[in-house]
Amino acid sequence: MPEYSVSTEALYQGNHIRGMEMHPETIPCFLTTAFTMKGFKEVQETYDTKGYTYIRTRNPNRTALGEVISCLEGGEESLVFSSGMGAITTTLMALLEPGDHVICNANIYGETFCVMTQILKKCGVEVTFVDYQNTEDIAKAVRPNTKLIYSEVFSNPTLTLVDLRAVSALAHQNGALLMVDNTFTSPIAIRPIDFGADIVINSLTKFLNGHSDAVGGAVTTTQALCDKIQSVAMLLGTPGDPFSSWLIHRGINTASVRIPQQMHTAERLAQVLSQNKHVSKVNHPSLPTYPQKELADSMFGKNGYCAMLSFIVPEDLEKIDQFMLALKFPRYAPTLGGLHTTLSHPVTSSHMGVPDETRRKMGITPGMIRVSVGIEDADDLAADFENALKVFD
Ligand SMILES: Cc1ncc(COP(=O)(O)O)c(C=O)c1O
Repeated sequence: MPEYSVSTEALYQGNHIRGMEMHPETIPCFLTTAFTMKGFKEVQETYDTKGYTYIRTRNPNRTALGEVISCLEGGEESLVFSSGMGAITTTLMALLEPGDHVICNANIYGETFCVMTQILKKCGVEVTFVDYQNTEDIAKAVRPNTKLIYSEVFSNPTLTLVDLRAVSALAHQNGALLMVDNTFTSPIAIRPIDFGADIVINSLTKFLNGHSDAVGGAVTTTQALCDKIQSVAMLLGTPGDPFSSWLIHRGINTASVRIPQQMHTAERLAQVLSQNKHVSKVNHPSLPTYPQKELADSMFGKNGYCAMLSFIVPEDLEKIDQFMLALKFPRYAPTLGGLHTTLSHPVTSSHMGVPDETRRKMGITPGMIRVSVGIEDADDLAADFENALKVFD
């Protein structure tokens, strides 16, 4: 057991820059494309010790941010990328070979789905999509060449939960790796490595930075796998830049304060919405009606489950538009995880390309609204939603 809590430890990670004699209270931003060396001896030593040379290879702000993420996720090592997609594509390109097979949750982030169907296809990697609600269905898709099993913790926007313990056991029985995207949940809610995941992805653009002012991504895994991924990242040119890393480092320092509050406010909002006469369904794991309640309670602790929720109102786009206009605080935004509560309409955005019949089978109707809960006062937010829902009277 660590001596201190993760939130305390994470605050003190990444502040010790190798070779720096001063001790600033917070890490400065190293806006430099390279570090200079004097003479062959220093050049040799710097390369031998994996010191700082060229920005694409290594940068102190990326190293520092990676140390904090490793601490929060409970992993050996983390690499920082220019975006969440940069982290995902680079990791897949580094770990997969032509002829390999991947099993992927059928209900994942749209662009990850496109990487699986378009980029991996070009690389000669076959992907089978499976509904992860039943682990037996995943087992049926396993082949001798299955190298990787991929999932998010909750599916967007229905918040269907994946039993990470069961899926990691299945992956390991078959010699495959389990790769989990923790963007929706963040390590403040759950650490997939504790459930057996081998590789964890975070889009740092979302909850971990939390301030909606920087794009970044991270992979957390073993030192050995990170070494493999790092050499491919260098070639693909996907590592993150120092300023974004610095901004995200600043944001992540308050993650353990912000995110639990966002998750608890989401619980309160879910409860209020579930009692509203115009709302036919609310998807949030805190609710007693959540279909996977027992599983959720066995996977999440006191910090909360998730600051995302979705709910269903009548299928009247004009009224939904009036509802969005009537809200005082939340705005429509094609992102999530910021300080302000934002919402989106899956049928006209993330799931626009999915046929209506398929969407309905997934529980996504034209009346569905997805919410990313911010740090507003819970009562103010609940009152704002209740007032705006009156447009359906
Ligand atoms: C679950 C999930 N994973 C990955 C990404 C990609 O992250 P980024 O936009 O930082 O590339 C997103 C973006 O919305 C996401 O929602």
